[in-house]
Amino acid sequence: MGDEHWQLEGSAAELYQRYVVPAITTRWAEDLVHRAQPRAGEAVLDVACGTGVVARLAAKAVARGQVTGLDLNAGMLAVARGMPSQGAPINWIEGSALDLPFPPDSFDVVLCQLGLQFFPDQERALREMRRVLRNSGRAALSVYSPIERTPGAYAFVLALDEVLGADASRIKRGEHSFTDPAQLEALLKDAGFGGVGVQTVEQTIVFPSVLDYVRFQLLATPMTVFLTDRTEPEQQAIILSVASKATAYPRRQCSTAAGSPSRRRHTSPLHWALVDTSACGPTLKVTCIARAVAIGR
Ligand SMILES: C[S@@+](CC[C@H](N)C(=O)[O-])C[C@H]1O[C@@H](n2cnc3c(N)ncnc32)[C@H](O)[C@@H]1O
Repeated sequence: MGDEHWQLEGSAAELYQRYVVPAITTRWAEDLVHRAQPRAGEAVLDVACGTGVVARLAAKAVARGQVTGLDLNAGMLAVARGMPSQGAPINWIEGSALDLPFPPDSFDVVLCQLGLQFFPDQERALREMRRVLRNSGRAALSVYSPIERTPGAYAFVLALDEVLGADASRIKRGEHSFTDPAQLEALLKDAGFGGVGVQTVEQTIVFPSVLDYVRFQLLATPMTVFLTDRTEPEQQAIILSVASKATAYPRRQCSTAAGSPSRRRHTSPLHWALVDTSACGPTLKVTCIARAVAIGR
């Protein structure tokens, strides 16, 4: 996987901040920052900060400390710079997680939310995080769990491949490339971290409809490449078709499973639940599990 993943044009970065951040990444950011417990006066680095949701929460927590947000994508950083924040000032830096432009022992806390899975050399990025962390420091990272065990996202990628061709879901599947908590733990230990703890965290996120979920996936994430160079009616037809097929997947699964769709959602070990809209009204509930990792040195 190369550096081209999760790269958005300026307008898509604005859409990401407007739709994805409030609906999804703020929820994960609150959890991650809570686990890392940044304290007043500390220096915090947010790697792959995107439009800065984690950095802004950290800035509030450290008050008179310092916060740095680093990302490869200038469009995401431009949106981050334009957002209001409270507490410590935030220094936004364009750069790669693989070559952090800081001397050793620069930070008390290193955070990385939903970024590690996109780095072309994950071990190198983790070694870089370890290098810039002080001896007394701690790091907290989160990645998504496997897509096959997350029915909402899985239904979406199956529908995407049906509508746009066999390889269309590659970007979305890349978000879920960590298949096993042990894989994450081993990577962190190999990169020189000690005291590694991996926890599985579950959140339920509700979208107004399946169509809404599909629309923002295709307009406000790197999957926007599938819609550029198409006319407005063509774009709408693709969105409608993916949404309709995605809705049908859980319905097919529900018809062969015992119990009602909502009962299945609670008893299933699956990570995302796409509620059958015919049975539950026009609401998409997504139960999503990310792995949050807290690390001591
Ligand atoms: C899913 S977004 C997450 C953004 C943010 N952490 C959040 O939770 O909203 C992934 C981010 O990783 C960034 N990224 C991907 N590869 C990178 C790299 N090699 N170095 C720094 N950032 C990178 C992308 O530009 C993108 O902003």
